[in-house]
Amino acid sequence: MAEKIKRIAINTGGGDAPGLNAVIRAIVLSGLNRGWECYGIREGYNGLLDPAAFGDTGIIRLGEESVRGITHLGGTILGTTNRGNPLRFPIRRHDGTIQEMDRSGEIIDGLHNRGIDALVAIGGDGSLAIALELYRRGLRVIGVPKTIDNDLDRTVITFGFDTAVSFATSCLDRLHSTAEAHQRVMVVEVMGRYAGWIALNAGISGTADAILIPEIPYDLTKVAEKIEERDRKGRHFSIVVVAEGAKAVGGHVAVKSKEIGRQERLGGIGDLVAHDLAELTGKETRAVVLGHLLRGGSPSTFDRLISLRFGAAAVRALDEGQSGIMVALDPPTVNYVPLAEATRRMKCVPLDCDSILTARDLGISFGD
Ligand code: F6P
Repeated sequence: MAEKIKRIAINTGGGDAPGLNAVIRAIVLSGLNRGWECYGIREGYNGLLDPAAFGDTGIIRLGEESVRGITHLGGTILGTTNRGNPLRFPIRRHDGTIQEMDRSGEIIDGLHNRGIDALVAIGGDGSLAIALELYRRGLRVIGVPKTIDNDLDRTVITFGFDTAVSFATSCLDRLHSTAEAHQRVMVVEVMGRYAGWIALNAGISGTADAILIPEIPYDLTKVAEKIEERDRKGRHFSIVVVAEGAKAVGGHVAVKSKEIGRQERLGGIGDLVAHDLAELTGKETRAVVLGHLLRGGSPSTFDRLISLRFGAAAVRALDEGQSGIMVALDPPTVNYVPLAEATRRMKCVPLDCDSILTARDLGISFGD
């Protein structure tokens, strides 16, 4: 039987997503209700690894007051980072070369020295892979699945995704009128890394004419045919949604930058597609990149609710003696799945899923 919990820590890692604050609130209130003390680690694990940078407030006590009125707020009151993986922390040597260091021991010791019994790690695949490693090294850990990309396995949905899709959809709604007024092709690039969930869901809901996703390498002549077919029907404008990780048949993903100690940054495919479609169709095209707008703002009602449910479930899991698991949506309930399974592979859009079939039935082109 696991020892009774007295103190827990929470951290938020990776790119922010709407709903982070709601999860923090649910964890803190559920923990306080059990008589536990709650602490927040600032900026991923940086508050523990480099406390001096935070004026020694790298770990802060979280009480009822700290989480009052934050459910609807975007961002995270703890701060976050998607650089400096503590398992491969980049350190610059005197000669300018970079050496990677495993600093997980400092995290585990830092928590133990403060009498903290367990960690609730809120993050996407990268952050939860770190959480899994900390669990394997002896820490009690519960993961909460966060990412606008919805690419985490073993949960039907991650929080943040619904808000991103809703925002992208309302942008597509707005782009219709200007596209029609100018008889243009509007190419809308959305985030999602190597998975097409945002593009697919927003594209269908926002009635796009073509949706390009990483899971289906595209041939732009097929998209041009779709645009020309619309022209023949008197619809002289078209909307094309392209996921940042989409690529042409035999082509490459558009990479914006690559830095040591962080994942490659994707971006730029919208411009390329717009340029090539202009050449193929002879129509005026414009590219719009929604980018980080998808990560900002207030979480949707769905995201607020699922975030609060995830946070409360994470605390129940700890109370039940669970560790090394992630809370996951398995409608209608939230259940627990091993972190090892959730982080094993990326959840891509299955080619035979109902949403792809729906899009095809509606006449939306995938460029294939
Ligand atoms: O994983 C979330 C995400 O927003 C991706 O969709 C995107 O590729 C990436 O993060 C962008 O990261 P950054 O904050 O480094 O620009």
